[in-house]
Amino acid sequence: MSIQRVRVKSSAGLYPVYIGDKLLPTVLPKHLPAKVPVAMLVDEGVAALPLTTDLFHWLERRSSRVVRVRIPAGERSKSIDEYGRVLRQLAGAGMTRDGWVLAVGGGVTGDLAGFVAATFLRGLPLIQIPTTVVAMVDSSVGGKTGVDLPEGKNLVGAFYPPQAVLADLRWLQFLSPVEKRAGMAEVLKCGAIADSKLFASLAKGAPRSMAKVVKRCVEIKAKLAGEDEKDLKGKRALLNFGHTVAHGLEGILGYDGLRHGEAVAIGMAVAAHLSVKARGFKRKTAEKLKAAIRAQGLPVTHPELRWDRLSTWISRDKKATSEGIRWVLLRKIGKADLVSGVAEKKVMAALEEVREGRPAKG
Ligand SMILES: NC(=O)c1ccc[n+]([C@@H]2O[C@H](COP(=O)([O-])OP(=O)(O)OC[C@H]3O[C@@H](n4cnc5c(N)ncnc54)[C@H](O)[C@@H]3O)[C@@H](O)[C@H]2O)c1
Repeated sequence: MSIQRVRVKSSAGLYPVYIGDKLLPTVLPKHLPAKVPVAMLVDEGVAALPLTTDLFHWLERRSSRVVRVRIPAGERSKSIDEYGRVLRQLAGAGMTRDGWVLAVGGGVTGDLAGFVAATFLRGLPLIQIPTTVVAMVDSSVGGKTGVDLPEGKNLVGAFYPPQAVLADLRWLQFLSPVEKRAGMAEVLKCGAIADSKLFASLAKGAPRSMAKVVKRCVEIKAKLAGEDEKDLKGKRALLNFGHTVAHGLEGILGYDGLRHGEAVAIGMAVAAHLSVKARGFKRKTAEKLKAAIRAQGLPVTHPELRWDRLSTWISRDKKATSEGIRWVLLRKIGKADLVSGVAEKKVMAALEEVREGRPAKG
């Protein structure tokens, strides 16, 4: 498989995202200096995989020292407590200012490790090595790092671009089918907001080439995040299609009732219904979008889709401003906008339709 490269613009300059296999022997040495201390923050779910052990031994041979920190699997690790524990482990191990941080894992590890890299000793250079679909197509790119609070998801963090991202597709063979499916929600999202061709290819089910799908999603993310790094111009926020309700659901369920991708799938169904009511999105297309979500083996409804339960969480969403909630809605597949001032009764009606499995009404 050839190695593809997408470049991402950030305030710190351009950085590359590599997509392919066998990136370790070819690409990593180009970005990680030899003979420096390395903190390898690794997802517990991948720590024992042979690819990870090979990486660790390679680092041990090449670096002045390697501090390996295991991140317990699951969203609960994106917490202030875990963040503090990792910082203290690095301090206790005597990590110095010439050190580098490697984040090896899914979005949870990447977000947490990125925030550690952004803040430990006021910032150490970071390389993201994503190992899930979500992390490859989304979370490792764009420099958003951070942790959750009990009050809401991603409420604390920093914009901290990595030096490089290495999306080695070999990791994906070890992912459980359920995690793979959850990751496809973010891929569908990319198609829904920015690429009708990608969307059409996914409507049929599993994609034929993950390399192509990952590359296309990285290109979309690179463009939106590159034009709006700090999420101030309403461009990057489009990547949050489906996420307003998803974050609310995740919060209600204590961050471990649904996988992030599953929550996004349900959130996209609600956003599609709301788009019909508020943006003239065609009812037939909303049904097509839900069929595509189902074709990826993902859910399109949930019993907790109730305004009385979700409203507090939704108003704390990071897309909310002092003017209220901003929704990412579709005019058609591939065309999304950030919309404020959507009437509460439309939101309530969309939630009810999706909860009860009814078709979208205009
Ligand atoms: N920073 C961003 O821009 C951004 C964007 C999207 C999502 N996110 C965040 O990403 C997180 C979700 O990421 P995720 O879906 O990758 O979940 P995750 O990090 O929790 O990983 C999912 C599970 O897969 C396991 N795993 C990881 N790689 C594996 C592999 N190769 N083989 C076998 N098991 C493996 C993990 O141990 C975990 O149990 C959320 O916290 C979300 O907020 C951030």
